[in-house]
Amino acid sequence: MPTALITGANRGLGLEFVRQYQADGWEVIATARRSSPELDASGAMVRQLDMSDPEAVANFQTDGPLDLLIANAGIYGPAEARSADDGRAWQEVLTVNCIAPTLLARALLRNVAATKGKLIAVSSRMGSIADSSTGSIAYRSSKAALNMAWHVLALETKADGIIAATLNPGWVKTDMGGSGAPLSPPDSVAGMREVIAKLTPAQSGGFYDRTGDALPW
Ligand SMILES: NC(=O)c1ccc[n+]([C@@H]2O[C@H](COP(=O)([O-])OP(=O)(O)OC[C@H]3O[C@@H](n4cnc5c(N)ncnc54)[C@H](OP(=O)(O)O)[C@@H]3O)[C@@H](O)[C@H]2O)c1
Repeated sequence: MPTALITGANRGLGLEFVRQYQADGWEVIATARRSSPELDASGAMVRQLDMSDPEAVANFQTDGPLDLLIANAGIYGPAEARSADDGRAWQEVLTVNCIAPTLLARALLRNVAATKGKLIAVSSRMGSIADSSTGSIAYRSSKAALNMAWHVLALETKADGIIAATLNPGWVKTDMGGSGAPLSPPDSVAGMREVIAKLTPAQSGGFYDRTGDALPW
């Protein structure tokens, strides 16, 4: 039975990833800074992990092989980037959205290499420089940085047979996406799972939409 580790699993897209992989018979290790009744009821093994704490992330360990890491936890952060408070909030966005996923991937490399598995980070089209617009500098820059970190990770883990990629889930109805979003979490996650399942070594290091299309950096 394959095993997946999913971060930010207590609600939103993370919880939906847990549900779908569980329903497919996977063993799921679900991390969250605080669990939820829905996650507790999912049957996944729940582990506490705060992605704003680099020490906890860098020292995180799990026994046994991992077929898949999904670094999903993320925050939007401040709309503005002007004041010192905005700057401090931006630092946290960079930590949660880019630094922590990368440290976690490195902490789990041996587990993932054991299966020649996959390292997936949930990014965003808002991290594309080629496809950018104004506003949300903190969030956009954190996802652009995540894309770069994951690309380097892909190059560094190729020899171990690991496939690494970042994914755009689309605009999805969650707390972050809001009620006006066109996509439901089940549809977005089903699309991403199909992309993940089909990823080939030649695609490692790329940035893909939930439809499977390659996205511009
Ligand atoms: N929804 C969209 O339209 C959309 C579009 C593009 C990309 N994304 C990306 O998709 C991913 C999931 O987003 P979502 O839509 O599911 O958002 P969400 O509903 O706001 O959920 C965010 C998840 O991240 C967790 N999280 C935040 N800070 C954390 C921390 N310090 N430690 C551990 N967990 C933390 C949250 O846990 P708590 O309950 O503890 O806060 C929650 O489980 C994010 O990376 C987001 O950037 C979403």
